[in-house]
Amino acid sequence: MGVPALIVAAGSGQRLGAGGPKALVELAGRPLYAWSVEAFRQASWVDRIYVAVPPGQADRFTEPGIVTVEGGETRSHSVANGLAAITAEGSPEMVVVHDAARPLVSPALIDAAVIGLDADVELHALIAAAPVTDTVKRLGEDGVVVETLNRSTLVSVQTPQVFRVGFLRDAIATGDLAAATDDASLIEAAGGSVGVIESPSGNIKVTVPGDLDLAALLLERNR
Ligand code: C5P
Repeated sequence: MGVPALIVAAGSGQRLGAGGPKALVELAGRPLYAWSVEAFRQASWVDRIYVAVPPGQADRFTEPGIVTVEGGETRSHSVANGLAAITAEGSPEMVVVHDAARPLVSPALIDAAVIGLDADVELHALIAAAPVTDTVKRLGEDGVVVETLNRSTLVSVQTPQVFRVGFLRDAIATGDLAAATDDASLIEAAGGSVGVIESPSGNIKVTVPGDLDLAALLLERNR
C-alpha cells in the first residue's frame, strides 16, 4: 500500500517576519519545508509527495522527487488544490496532509497514522494530537473568563492528518474553507468520524521567530 502525501507550504509567513514564504526560511541548513519532505521520504507507507507552494514560486521549491502544486488563498484552499492534483493522477484511498510548518514530524508518526486509519473502518480521518497540559479557559466578548474547560477531554491538534480521500473531497466541496484551520474540522462539519493518535512532544509548529530557535535545537538533539 502506498499513500500520497500533501505538504502544505503556501503560507505567507507574516507572523515569522522573514520577508518571504515561511516554508523557505532556513532551518539548520535547509529550507524549513525540506525537513518535512525528508521525513515523508523516510516513511514506509508514503509513495508520492506533493507540496502546495505560494503562487508563482514553484521554481524555488527544488527538493528532488516532489510534485509542486499552486497553493490557494487559505490553508484549506491549498489542501483543495493539492487534493485535486492528487486525484487527477489516480484514485488513492487515503491521503496524508501535513503542515510544512512542523519540520520535526517523524516518519514513525506518519506511518502509525496511516496504519491506524487503514485498520479502523469506523473512522474517516486520523489526526495527530497532543494532550493539553495548560489549563484552558473560554473568554466572553468582554475578555473576562466565562468558564474553565475540562482539560482531560481536550487535545491540541497537529499534523500529520490522514484522510479517506472520498470523504475529504466531499467535505472540502461542502465546507467553509475560509473558516477552517484544519481539514479534520471539515470532516467533523460533514458528520464524519475523526480519531486521534498521540504525537510526540517535539512535533512543534514554527510560527514566530523563537520557534525557529527551538526547532533547530530539537533537530540537533534528534541527530
Ligand atoms: O498559517 P499557519 O501557520 O496556520 O499555516 C499552516 C500551514 O499551512 C503552513 O505550512 C502554511 O504554509 C500552510 N498554508 C498554505 N496555504 C495558505 C496558508 C497556509 O499552504 N494559504
